[in-house]
Amino acid sequence: MDHFVVTASAARQRTDCAIVGVFEKGTLSAAANDLDTRLGGSLTRLISNGDVRGRLGETLLLGDLKNAPCQRVVLVGLGGRDAFGRKQYRKALTAATALVMKTGAREAINYLSLENIRDTDAYYSGRCTAEVVANALYRIPDLKTAKKPSKPALRRFGVAAADRGDRTQAERGLLHGEGISSGMGFMRDLANLPANICTPSYIAAAARELAREHRGVRVKILTEPDMRKLKMGALLSVTRGSEEPARLIVAEYRGGAANAAPIALVGKGVTFDTGGISLKPPPAMDEMKFDMSGAASVLGALKAAATLKLPINLVVIVPACENMPSGRATRPGDIVKTMSGQTVEVLNTDAEGRLILCDALTYARRFKPSAVVDVATLTGAVVVALGNHLSGVFSNDDDLANALLEAGKRADDRAWHMPIGDEYAEQLKSNFADFANVAGREGGASTAASYLSKFTKDLKWAHLDVAGTAYQSGAHKSSTGRPVPLLVEYLLSKKS
Ligand code: BES
Ligand code: MN
Ligand code: ZN
Repeated sequence: MDHFVVTASAARQRTDCAIVGVFEKGTLSAAANDLDTRLGGSLTRLISNGDVRGRLGETLLLGDLKNAPCQRVVLVGLGGRDAFGRKQYRKALTAATALVMKTGAREAINYLSLENIRDTDAYYSGRCTAEVVANALYRIPDLKTAKKPSKPALRRFGVAAADRGDRTQAERGLLHGEGISSGMGFMRDLANLPANICTPSYIAAAARELAREHRGVRVKILTEPDMRKLKMGALLSVTRGSEEPARLIVAEYRGGAANAAPIALVGKGVTFDTGGISLKPPPAMDEMKFDMSGAASVLGALKAAATLKLPINLVVIVPACENMPSGRATRPGDIVKTMSGQTVEVLNTDAEGRLILCDALTYARRFKPSAVVDVATLTGAVVVALGNHLSGVFSNDDDLANALLEAGKRADDRAWHMPIGDEYAEQLKSNFADFANVAGREGGASTAASYLSKFTKDLKWAHLDVAGTAYQSGAHKSSTGRPVPLLVEYLLSKKS
């Protein structure tokens, strides 16, 4: 998809399709006003006839326009002017873009950008436009044998800017939005695949592909014998029951100074989570193919960082395996020795994410990272706490937690600060090992994070629990691409 910025008014700019907004109570937006004059008051008449109300997200397609430089207009409701902000902007543009995709338009221009109300500045406009268009064009890599519906005609998408300063900002926003979208697309493609295709080896091959596509990216794949040499007893205990070989994927992007400490991103890569011997109940178990969303998101963030050529060093570590029951599988009560040397009593084999992450976090130490952020669909408890709206942030460093929370706000990919601490860690007491891998129902997201914190002492570390945000269930079952926007925004803020 080609993107561009225009500074000419909607009344003069030629295009296949102009997207213009109408506020509630029939107030035309600036761009709609320009166009209305050119159209001899047609838009005003639509409003006075009661055909257009301006309710947020309502759309109307106008065609066969006399005197207009555009072939079509998509009118979109912006809601009340007082309430208009980024949420409303994104919702209106998403609705308008969906309608554009149904037309034969090969090009469209977004004029909502001229409103510039509150925090919807030119940069935001560019970025939001690139993200919304990429999202509208995204197709699940499905295996349906019926002929695919025809692709949208859209080839080029423009954003209107008021002046040269705004043009520069909008262009920067478009660029960032494209980079983020490329990372989200990478994540979604991987996560949407079924577990019989998207195996640990498949994720490893996808990471290798990233190294082929992008300069500055190097990938190393560790196998089970390597993990045994490293004494990764916790990771190996999870993969024991599976026929599918585990992989530890290490991908490095170097865009910063040679001696600059890297940021480490660690992603949970359970390609299917049956629960193991602590088998999960059947309803919705298919969704456990999404249990590698953390892995896909950190690799997606690396792809975005490489695409945007960010001036940072990044190391991505992905422990990838399956969690299966079998005659060889780890049993409840088994005790394993982690790479850190600490012993763990595996009371529940369904708490496997923390077992593979703890060894990956220990491995991360060798890169002497300035910060470590792990991303995981770790607990059902975080979904109970935060629903599907926000990701949970847990950290041993308030500055890092705040940087991630702020990045989430700026990227429209919000997260919420959740507690960890000794009280929670004490719930993990075991009579037989240093601690257990589970601690009862209460505070489940925090006890899981507190388990991880036992492996990140002296590291600046944060954990993102994305069990509620990484994918959608039901009729729209699909990977969401989250938290790639939050992660990339955090990396963008590292730019010195
Ligand atoms: N992958 C699951 C967490 C999960 C649950 C993700 C629902 C998405 C939706 C994780 O491995 C798991 O099974 N966690 C257990 C932990 C429990 C045994 C302490 C859980 O949340 O039930
Ligand atoms: Mn599990
Ligand atoms: Zn899991």
